[in-house]
Amino acid sequence: MPKETLTITDNRTGKTFELPIVNNTIHSTDLRQIKVKDDDFGMMTYDPAFMNTALCKSTITFIDGDKGILRYRGYPIEQLAEKCTYLEVAYLILHGELPTKEQLTSWTTDIKLHTFIHENVKLLMEGFRYDAHPMGMFVSTVAALSTFYPEAGNIFDAGTRWKQTLRLIGKVPTVAAFAYRHSKGMPYVYPDNELSFTGNFLNMMFRIGTVKYNPHPVLERALEILFILHADHELNCSTTAMRNVGSSHVDPYSATAAAAAALYGPLHGGANEAVLRMLDQIDSIDKVPEFIKTVKGGEGKLMGFGHRVYKNFDPRAQVIKKLADQVFEVTGRNPKLDIALELERIALQDEYFMKRKLYPNVDFYSGLIYQAMGFPLQMFPVLFAIPRTSGWIAHWQEMLQDPEQKIARPRQVYLGYDKRDFVPIQSRK
Ligand code: CMC
Repeated sequence: MPKETLTITDNRTGKTFELPIVNNTIHSTDLRQIKVKDDDFGMMTYDPAFMNTALCKSTITFIDGDKGILRYRGYPIEQLAEKCTYLEVAYLILHGELPTKEQLTSWTTDIKLHTFIHENVKLLMEGFRYDAHPMGMFVSTVAALSTFYPEAGNIFDAGTRWKQTLRLIGKVPTVAAFAYRHSKGMPYVYPDNELSFTGNFLNMMFRIGTVKYNPHPVLERALEILFILHADHELNCSTTAMRNVGSSHVDPYSATAAAAAALYGPLHGGANEAVLRMLDQIDSIDKVPEFIKTVKGGEGKLMGFGHRVYKNFDPRAQVIKKLADQVFEVTGRNPKLDIALELERIALQDEYFMKRKLYPNVDFYSGLIYQAMGFPLQMFPVLFAIPRTSGWIAHWQEMLQDPEQKIARPRQVYLGYDKRDFVPIQSRK
């Protein structure tokens, strides 16, 4: 029987250490026994950007980046995208099992009972400048919700946690739509709970006047699929933020706002917005080769390409590419699609991108669909944040119930000055 241990020899001292291997990992604190002198701090691993560090044990999402596999609670993303609603998937992510018919009905009703926001939240949103970025409004408003539900700080009470879960998932589409209507100077549309989760969101975004809004079934379903694809993605930057900030035991609104702030960045949830800006900048198909040349020359990145985990293909991008055709049949073809297809064609056979295993990610085509559906660019990261809220909360709940978790507090390698004496201002050069 091979031993489940790792033997390390420290060549500075000649000492050998045997560390247990559990789940294909070693515990980093086991390295601390490796020292030259007794009063040394002990060996650490250096891992900027957490390239090879497991932060937690999780049972929510499985990714095999080399094989292009993504599963929520064991179910392949392709099957969920084809057969489920977003709320069904959110239930799965949070509970670990798909809901029965009765469970889905009661879960959907519970979420719909939490779609309205306090009138003072609306007033707060009115205080933003007319041109405020909706994602900035989203982040701030979600944070502000903690002041409306002070009991949310009682995070070790399962009932209280569940209530905030319903509130967060139910209210984020309303906050998102109100942010958009504010930027347009249009009156806010209150939730219509006769509609589906995505139908209601489209209604709050696009309804004009008092005429009943009937979402187009193809677009409603397309949004449902996009929400399913974005619901969770294990320890991406924003989910890591959710876990890290949540580990201080702050309320879930504050932690969700921190996660949303991480998502705002152009390397994460802001990438689909950046893709469209890039396509605008390229302007026409004949300029694609020149653009690729500039990227290879180190001037910027091909946005919507590359992924920390997927080094073969992003399974979400494949579902989205197919979805684009269905959406464009209703909305008309997005003229930027041709530029995107040409970029993809050239990049996939270019040595630079092949060598670095850079493939289209989820954001490469999602923006084109969102734009064709009438969403402005600035709403793209907000559209990502709505479904990702269920993933964030699932990780937050898992983290709080994991006895091995503590407040997140990494170590550093200090390379600054050794002790030196204070210099009075008149003596400084
Ligand atoms: N265009 C051109 N070169 C790239 C790109 C790109 N999109 N992505 C990575 N590279 C190069 C990078 O310059 C580096 O080259 P070299 O080895 O010569 O220095 C090499 O590929 C490895 O890249 P990296 O930066 O070490 O990879 P990473 O794992 O740290 O970064 C990433 C992953 C997603 C941040 C990066 O690929 C990127 O910035 N992509 C564009 C932004 C984007 O589309 N983000 C959305 C990610 S998917 C949605 C989500 O989950 O948030």
